[in-house]
Amino acid sequence: MNLIFVIALSVAFVAVATPLDLNEDIIKLIKQHDEFCTKENHLSDKEIAKLKVKDFSSPSDNLKCFINCTLEKIGALKNGVIQEDHVLHVFGPLIGEETIRKIISKCGHLKGKSDCDTAFKLHECLEKLKHDASI
Ligand SMILES: *[C@@H]1O[C@H](CO)[C@@H](O)[C@H](O)[C@H]1NC(C)=O
Repeated sequence: MNLIFVIALSVAFVAVATPLDLNEDIIKLIKQHDEFCTKENHLSDKEIAKLKVKDFSSPSDNLKCFINCTLEKIGALKNGVIQEDHVLHVFGPLIGEETIRKIISKCGHLKGKSDCDTAFKLHECLEKLKHDASI
């Protein structure tokens, strides 16, 4: 079920901790965005290093916008709004629609101070779900 992380959060982190059952095209796609979004948001080496060890304490705006970028690039988020239809369509066959609906019902209502902040909150929520193993 590692695919979950693809959807939302870990697009970023997938490049580091590659889920076992991701197909190669998806991994490629994510890695591309990863690189694009790292540049686009001017992540410093220090921030990249933090990402790699999944350290999300005191996230910078750049880091939040990096998460926004990856989520928007895979079509999961647009202007801070989860694109449920798109997510169901693309990831439903891989993860199961029920799981996706569950994630959205638990995390989809979150709103941050900006679109990037929303993306980050979403990411945090997914990490928590993952941690609690409730998805
Ligand atoms: C979120 O990411 C997309 C894709 O890179 C970008 O077009 C958009 O401007 C970003 N939003 C913010 C608030 O940075």
